[in-house]
Amino acid sequence: FRAWRGLIEEYRDRLPVTSTTPVVTLLEGGTPLVPARRVSALTGCDVHLKVEGLNPTGSFKDRGMTVAISKAVEEGAKAVICASTGNTSASAAAYAVRAGLTCAVLVPRGKIAMGKLAQALVHGAKLLQVDGSFDDCLEMTRKLAENYPIALVNSVNPHRLQGQKTAAFEIVDALGDAPEVHCIPVGNAGNISAYWMGYREYAADGLATRTPRMLGFQASGSAPIVDGAPVTHPHTIATAIRIGNPASWKLAEAARDESGGDIQAVTDRQIAAAYKLLAQEEGVFVELASAASVAGLLQAHEQGLLRQGERVVCTVTGNGLKDPDWAISGAPTPLTIPVDAFAAAHALELA
Ligand code: F0G
Repeated sequence: FRAWRGLIEEYRDRLPVTSTTPVVTLLEGGTPLVPARRVSALTGCDVHLKVEGLNPTGSFKDRGMTVAISKAVEEGAKAVICASTGNTSASAAAYAVRAGLTCAVLVPRGKIAMGKLAQALVHGAKLLQVDGSFDDCLEMTRKLAENYPIALVNSVNPHRLQGQKTAAFEIVDALGDAPEVHCIPVGNAGNISAYWMGYREYAADGLATRTPRMLGFQASGSAPIVDGAPVTHPHTIATAIRIGNPASWKLAEAARDESGGDIQAVTDRQIAAAYKLLAQEEGVFVELASAASVAGLLQAHEQGLLRQGERVVCTVTGNGLKDPDWAISGAPTPLTIPVDAFAAAHALELA
């Protein structure tokens, strides 16, 4: 047994760091690849979940942030800024604390899950709620980073994708080869691009015999890549991917086309059903946006896009605890009983 050292140490020779880069880490990465029995039975495939909600701040964003913040410190930054639907801000805030940097975040007002807001605030980020969309926030942060001494840590920062590509390395390291299909939610489109970069890199170096078909899934009310045009007023219950004009649009299309994959839309209804399926049949609590990968896999199965027995990995990007409001709103109200074991037995239908 050897303890996990965080992804920069684990994959140092594949990342843009040198011996003098100060490594800012919370020991992110090394997340479980969990076999999904029920989803496998439903699709006839060998399905695994890459459970990214088990990263230090509860989402895959930590992979990109450890590299982006380490490089920002190396380059002498004193402050960082990001736009966010929630998870990036939570991650940036935590890693900024580790590095002793100031962190500013712009979020769309009323459109980020409560857990994420709590994280950014608890870590001491300067948080502004903008009366606009994520896309508006990103445009503002780009301008601020251009005109003021503050480093941008959104995924338009190339160090972010470098860090995030390590999830593909971990999958190949765990399975012994790349899967045949990889399903992933798409919002700002950085993560699908990063995975594709990682899979290609391992195949080019002979560490995998193949690359997977990349299947990306947007929410149908926020599906600019599927529609072929930016969405001015994106809507979906999956607030993490409520994005109308993704920054990595072109890279995501390249991942789709080079891999022989597809980018499709899934409805909020499909996302909510997959969220419930994961929680109640797999025991894996993810946030809504994360369930888009599994909703999409089920859709791809119905469309006949999968062969029997194919190995499939679905990235589930964020922890279900991020959004307690949604979790509780869909659940039955618990009964209240007196301090009485018989009353409990009765309520539990044991007696
Ligand atoms: N899933 C979750 C839970 C996310 O938070 C995000 C993006 C995505 C999927 C989509 O990944 O943008 O690389 O295509 N969240 C960003 C944020 C936008 O600000 O936290 P992507």
